[in-house]
Amino acid sequence: MDEGTRNPAPHGRLHGRRGVILGVANDHSIAWAIAKALVREGAEVALTYESERVRSRVERLAGELGGHPPLPCDVTSDDEIDRLVRELDRLLGRLDFLVHSVAYAPREALSGRFLDTSREAFRIALDVSAYSLVGLCRAARPLLPPGAAVLTMTYYGAEKVMPQYNVMGVAKAALEAAVRYLAADLGPDGIRVNAISAGPMNTLAARGIAGFSQALKLHAERAPLRRNVEGREIGETAVYLLSDMASAVTGEVVHVDTGFHLTGA
Ligand SMILES: NC(=O)c1ccc[n+]([C@@H]2O[C@H](COP(=O)([O-])OP(=O)(O)OC[C@H]3O[C@@H](n4cnc5c(N)ncnc54)[C@H](O)[C@@H]3O)[C@@H](O)[C@H]2O)c1
Repeated sequence: MDEGTRNPAPHGRLHGRRGVILGVANDHSIAWAIAKALVREGAEVALTYESERVRSRVERLAGELGGHPPLPCDVTSDDEIDRLVRELDRLLGRLDFLVHSVAYAPREALSGRFLDTSREAFRIALDVSAYSLVGLCRAARPLLPPGAAVLTMTYYGAEKVMPQYNVMGVAKAALEAAVRYLAADLGPDGIRVNAISAGPMNTLAARGIAGFSQALKLHAERAPLRRNVEGREIGETAVYLLSDMASAVTGEVVHVDTGFHLTGA
């Protein structure tokens, strides 16, 4: 645990805000970096876990945040999403923010040719990684007050062909389009929806992509800032997007990638 997380500033930028973060699997997860940053800025955070497989790890991490025990939610199940929203209503009463940091594609679809993607792998990748944001926003809508903000995580492979990213690139393109459509639907109610396009980071999900360590190396060599991104930097941008600092920003994809997206590399 970073210094300062346990004793958040009483007047942090998210003081008095409460919300949920989906996508912590372990302490390398981007969602964990975001959780620490939000708590440091005074937010009250509930975490979720995908399945029993990761439950005990997420319980331990939730304990470090000093907050609520984590709630189960497999985002492929409408029933689980509805149950999560009921639990969040009981626990927090409202959601000033919802962070979606969830993605999955069958491993065989993350190597070789995109052309060979099976119908089933395509369906699973798009369901878990893109549709889930739509389902969550709809179910959580009654808990989102004016001023609430939704945030999801995307990657440059949505915009350009990145080796082996394959069906995940298509899922991220759908996710980014969903961010814009959701921002248009929810904007009249004062609810913002944005995405962070993060540079590659060494997490569980990333290690499922063939040749990921080469992608990390290439990124650090070619990005204008000549390095990879740190979890702390994703967390800081999440604080910005979820706070009133970004009160006029919606439907946006913010690149936090040490500038890689502008190189054409
Ligand atoms: N690591 C990177 O290089 C990178 C770069 C840009 C964007 N992202 C995105 O960041 C997000 C978080 O990934 P990460 O890199 O922190 O990896 P991670 O493995 O730590 O997180 C992925 C999370 O998705 C969850 N998940 C998968 N299927 C689920 C389901 N059916 N229901 C509920 N949860 C489910 C997993 O439990 C896990 O917590 C993903 O959207 C990923 O695509 C990652």
